Amino acid sequence: MVHQEPDNRIPTPDCSEGESNLSAKRRDWNDAGLGKRTRALIDRDAACFLHQSVSTPCMSAVRKAEGIWLEDMDGRRYMDFHGNSVHHIGYGHPRLKQAITRQMDELPFAPRRFTCEAAVALAEKLGQISPGNLSKVLFTTGGSDAIETALKIARVATGRFKTLSFWDSFHGAGFGASSVGGEQLFRMGPIGPLLPGAEHVPPFDAYRNPFGIEHSRDNPHDEEVGDIVASLIRFALKKEGDIAAVIAEPNRAVPYIPPKGFWKQVRAACDDAGALLIFDEIPTGLGKTGRMFACDHDEVVPDILVMGKALGGGIVPIAATICRPELDVCGDFALGHYTHEKNPVTCRAALTTIEIIEDEKLVENAAEVGAWALERMHDMMDRHNAIGDVRGRGYLLGIDLVKSRVTKEAASDLAEQVFYRCLENGLSFKISMGSVLTLYPSLVTTKADMEKALGIIDAAIAGAT
Ligand SMILES: Cc1ncc(COP(=O)(O)O)c(C=O)c1O
Repeated sequence: MVHQEPDNRIPTPDCSEGESNLSAKRRDWNDAGLGKRTRALIDRDAACFLHQSVSTPCMSAVRKAEGIWLEDMDGRRYMDFHGNSVHHIGYGHPRLKQAITRQMDELPFAPRRFTCEAAVALAEKLGQISPGNLSKVLFTTGGSDAIETALKIARVATGRFKTLSFWDSFHGAGFGASSVGGEQLFRMGPIGPLLPGAEHVPPFDAYRNPFGIEHSRDNPHDEEVGDIVASLIRFALKKEGDIAAVIAEPNRAVPYIPPKGFWKQVRAACDDAGALLIFDEIPTGLGKTGRMFACDHDEVVPDILVMGKALGGGIVPIAATICRPELDVCGDFALGHYTHEKNPVTCRAALTTIEIIEDEKLVENAAEVGAWALERMHDMMDRHNAIGDVRGRGYLLGIDLVKSRVTKEAASDLAEQVFYRCLENGLSFKISMGSVLTLYPSLVTTKADMEKALGIIDAAIAGAT
């Protein structure tokens, strides 16, 4: 008789068909919303790429990205109010393309252990625009790696390994970044175990806070929620006694807007506990919230700040970790030593991107039009009972759809309906946390574009309710 070992493995979900991403509405969209060429490329994509949650099958296929616009394989155009937060300066900015071309002609690559003018100039520039005295820099190819560089610095500087971060946060897909992240999707399943010592607290989301504190438009209690979360952080830092760092998005991109004074309390708690404060500004940095960095709103300077995404101007991948000079303590260890650490082309792209943001006053545009958009969203809330909350800072905006304003139950079905209606009418964005229409427009988005986009959303909600 053949002896069979008992199978104790956790069953692996069969995602080979990408079924986890196919709701009925998504199937309808695939069948009716897309043209033949677009569908054909999506099918080829699904045949040759490894399937994974969220991105298989793809929602569409693009052949052109220009300014705030995406164009699919059949010529359908969408205002892109998502753009993975890379398109601050708009897709394919001519000045950026020219700078990249010139750099490729001049010096296309610098092997690691060689430096180059573009890398040094970018590091110097980041030191000038970053808050406080953050000035020592390391570059990586992606945000997740830059987060892990920050975690390594915190470990070496404090001699501790534990971290404290927020449930529902996202910091990237690497093992280290997923460990400090708090989104279930990136933490569950058979991919673990993750890093030890990664502890979490609830986020500073006032609208759906788990503390039973009432929060409504007429009766906001954001600061009470902020006080509770800040005291939970202080409590955990004290009880553990050996946490290396608190790591967080200062303004979660859902968006959750930090209550007034919240970050000052957390900064003080970190200082008292000897823990570092790391801000992940990968989506929010470089102007998204109407200030160069989201933490500028809160007048709090972290020990380490991480940026990425838009840093590459929506063309090349580059991310950066920047810290105060006293944290330059890893000279005897390998922090990154990534292949593209001093790539002159990605560094030139980043430098030019920052210059474009400054010269075209894009941060100011996000602040001004973003504030106007938020007012307009409040008007929409007056007219649609399905809107439970609207919130935002600059060009990070959210419309939270609910089944009832009393229970605040997420109206996920409605959100999906609204989403596909908007796509049909030429507007793309993202749904977060099941029911939040999350708008991250490019910083070049004008008031007229914004008005048009909000009009599309307004009509979609009216049509779906
Ligand atoms: C807040 C935040 N941190 C980190 C990352 C990871 O960046 P990347 O995808 O470049 O690794 C992301 C990406 O979406 C992000 O939104």
